[in-house]
Amino acid sequence: MCGIVGYLGYREAYPIIIEGLKRLEYRGYDSAGIALFDGNDLKISKTKGKVSDLENQSAKEITQNGNLGIGHTRWATHGVPNDVNSHPHASNSGDLAIIHNGIIENYDALKKELISRGYTFQSDTDTEVLINLIEDVKKKENVKLGKAVQIALNQVVGAYAIAVFDKTKPGEVVIARLGSPLAVGIGEDEFFIASDASPFIEYTKNAIYLEDEEMAIIRLGKEIKIRKIKDDSLVAPYIQELQLNLEQIEKGGYEHFMLKEIHEQPKAIRDTYRGRLLSDEAIIKMAGVEDNMKTFLNANRIIIIACGTSWHAGLVAEYIFEEFARIPVEVEYASEFRYRNPVINENDVVIAISQSGETADTLAAIKLAKSRGAFVFGVCNVVGSSIARETHAGAYTHAGPEIGVASTKAFTTQITVLTLIALRLARAKGTMSSSDFRLYLRELELIPQKVEQLLNVDDHVKDIARQYLLSPNCLYLGRGYNFPVALEGALKLKEISYIHAEGYPAAEMKHGPIALIDDRMPVIVIATSKGHYEKVVSNIQEIKSRKGKIIAVVTQGDTAVKEIADHVIEIPESEEAFSPLLTTIPLQLLSYHIAVMRNCNVDQPRNLAKSVTVE
Ligand code: F6R
Repeated sequence: MCGIVGYLGYREAYPIIIEGLKRLEYRGYDSAGIALFDGNDLKISKTKGKVSDLENQSAKEITQNGNLGIGHTRWATHGVPNDVNSHPHASNSGDLAIIHNGIIENYDALKKELISRGYTFQSDTDTEVLINLIEDVKKKENVKLGKAVQIALNQVVGAYAIAVFDKTKPGEVVIARLGSPLAVGIGEDEFFIASDASPFIEYTKNAIYLEDEEMAIIRLGKEIKIRKIKDDSLVAPYIQELQLNLEQIEKGGYEHFMLKEIHEQPKAIRDTYRGRLLSDEAIIKMAGVEDNMKTFLNANRIIIIACGTSWHAGLVAEYIFEEFARIPVEVEYASEFRYRNPVINENDVVIAISQSGETADTLAAIKLAKSRGAFVFGVCNVVGSSIARETHAGAYTHAGPEIGVASTKAFTTQITVLTLIALRLARAKGTMSSSDFRLYLRELELIPQKVEQLLNVDDHVKDIARQYLLSPNCLYLGRGYNFPVALEGALKLKEISYIHAEGYPAAEMKHGPIALIDDRMPVIVIATSKGHYEKVVSNIQEIKSRKGKIIAVVTQGDTAVKEIADHVIEIPESEEAFSPLLTTIPLQLLSYHIAVMRNCNVDQPRNLAKSVTVE
């Protein structure tokens, strides 16, 4: 978490950094800061709060010019979010400035050592320790900044993406990465540094993504030099052409990124199966699966590892894989999996799901599975992300950038990719007939237009939202394929509206949660026509007889639920296995509208960040 931005070139650095920080605010938004070299001196302005607060503060504190600068938007790890703990941090001499995304785990021991050598600290952060360690090495060893950074990083345990400069040598910035992403935009006579490419997309399409354990010295008028931090060996820079465009990272007329991303789902799902699902030829083509078909077919079981919404997509996939391909599936929270001693071996296939591709727990679980000999397949959205690189093979979702912190289109595109894999394996194993296979392919191709049609329920959902926006609690129920959707609906509501919500398998209600039901409890029930319908109707009756308020998501043409429920939201008919791609849409809209009506910051909910790079 945390977003970092830097600029070295001939333009004014301030507006580039501020705009860049706004684009990276999804990574953390507890506090923000900027350090500029104004031609004479180092100027730092930082504050608790958002980048907009930094703009106000910096207007009072510093002159906003200079062609070299670094900026930071923070998700606090060490030290509460306040002005002092905000980045950038300066070294004791006042010469060096640093921004840092990550955690220095041994900062306490390093700090004690530095204190014993006369260093003082203003903040509680691990980052201030690192910049003083760099300064100490630089002085002690009488080396240049690049070398000092390298020696210091070799003493550090933890994760980092850093950018450092020295005001006495303002034509140079040193950057390094281990475990946190870092991109460099290469322009003509200018360089951009950022956690992802979004801050510099309008200036250059050429970017280098630093790999773990690499550092680079960026000098004006010189080619970028990349080295391995450990052994100092030179690495040839690999310049990539960015596919991202400005439109993709702007709101495009929507009030919030979340709403834009909800509405992008028809296209995102289509983009995800395009070129892979060839219904005319009745085939699915996915290179990562084809190349490893033997491994998939010989797998004793599939273990899915993920966190949050991605974990919910994994749960949907469990039903689909078992139903279609008859392969046993276990779905694990990455954070639990990695800290126990899982029974796993070379006959297991692990599928890791992650939108950002940077989630620390998922990354660590992948490394553990690999160390036990398992084949690991990644399902990521962010191209070139750490998880995409760490896995043996994979398939990208093509959702496009997801900026709203609450995941929406990532979820539906993850389900789409996993469905394609399950269908492909089902055909290869012969667990699905060719006629069923064809039918499912055609059905999957219809999903985008059904989602489009479904988005028209927006006003109706808004009306429902208005009636429940003051509810302190909410229950979500679903069965089978739609049990994970109930979990996802509850997660969406709690994370953006701060209403306590829980998701349950509908039949589990009678084993406890039913005690919560009274006339103030809204219960969202997914009751699709092919999903154990009669059983769910009975569950709805049980809620009704306890005076619970029922918001039911039903298939078009439903009659029984309509008679009992307080509100119904209709979804188009589909194969039950694909219904999560539909039922989830009204639940996303419901959470969105409730959060907006409660004046919550929908795109940047409190305490959260888009990519969770801490454990
Ligand atoms: C919820 C949400 C989170 C993420 C989780 C995993 O809306 O976005 O629960 O799903 O942090 O993130 P990724 O998928 O990037 O690994």
